[in-house]
Amino acid sequence: EVKNLEEIFEARIARDEKIEPKDWMPEKYRKTHIRQISQHAHSEIIGMLPEGNWITRAPSLRRKAALLAKVQDEAGHGLYLYSACETLGISREEMYEQLHSGKAKYSSIFNYPTVTWADMGAIGWLVDGAAIINQVPLCNTSFGPYARAMVRVCKEESFHQRQGYEIMLTLCKGTDEQKEMAQDALNRWWWPSLMMLGPTDAESVHTEQSMKWKLKRKSNDELRQQFIDQTVPQADILGLTIPDPDMKFNEETGHYDFGEIDWDEFWQVVKGHGPCNKERMKARVDAWENGEWVRDAAMAHAEKKANKNVA
Ligand code: ACO
Repeated sequence: EVKNLEEIFEARIARDEKIEPKDWMPEKYRKTHIRQISQHAHSEIIGMLPEGNWITRAPSLRRKAALLAKVQDEAGHGLYLYSACETLGISREEMYEQLHSGKAKYSSIFNYPTVTWADMGAIGWLVDGAAIINQVPLCNTSFGPYARAMVRVCKEESFHQRQGYEIMLTLCKGTDEQKEMAQDALNRWWWPSLMMLGPTDAESVHTEQSMKWKLKRKSNDELRQQFIDQTVPQADILGLTIPDPDMKFNEETGHYDFGEIDWDEFWQVVKGHGPCNKERMKARVDAWENGEWVRDAAMAHAEKKANKNVA
């Protein structure tokens, strides 16, 4: 019977039908979705920290309002994604526990420090730019709740990307010092942004199966090339230099060739040894612990209200 169910499931995937939470699905499909969606949710939540660091120091009221809105959007993305993931039968407490104990991964990119205001520009431009490239195909992913969450997330990400690029444009039109700050931010965020899209296809253990299930619609290397091809001309408009001496347009392929990515650095960061991993985890664990009294109070209030209704 399972074989029959599996055939029906495969046929639905082949027809590009959405799989919904109450539909039959193979156990591995469910598990791999829990893995990817929960990691994605954690990335949004941890992703608030590097930019949250600059809210109090934004250079104007306008910049502050935009940055604050963006960081709040990321909280929203994390919460929808946790909800989408819960429909697969994992509780939010369990997901938090996996994050706080270091068992769950979250994106490598958020383990780098934000040292100048230009980093707010570079993150919006590059990190959110890479996130859009990665997430637009996910709007067509096979699991319904994930696909629908991605539609709204992508709309918000494009605002984030533009606010970042506009910060970069402003700095690049400013004083020499401001332009240097923008270049320095690009130098530091470029390579980690390329790594963010995941290991090469040859090293990516999940791609083959995830492509079959239409969880992933494009491979890590395809997305990386698309990101590079889109971003290099944007750097030209800014008058900034991509920190890669091997970066060159290839007339034959119609794509930019690029230099060797430091995969050793990537795996170090993924394994918890990046520049800010400890700080990021501590911030989340502290927030969870310091919020305990709020959760307790909310529970006590809910119980009291429920008892009153009975009486
Ligand atoms: N940071 C941390 N871990 C990573 C990263 C990264 N940038 N890229 C890959 N990995 C991990 C994978 O999670 C996997 O580990 P696991 O088996 O413990 O889960 C391992 O490295 C091997 O990678 P892949 O086989 O390529 O994994 P996968 O097929 O899941 O592809 C990818 C990785 C592209 C990140 C995919 O999961 C994805 O598209 N996720 C949704 C988008 C997302 O999470 N974005 C987060 C940042 S965007 C933002 O928050 C603004």
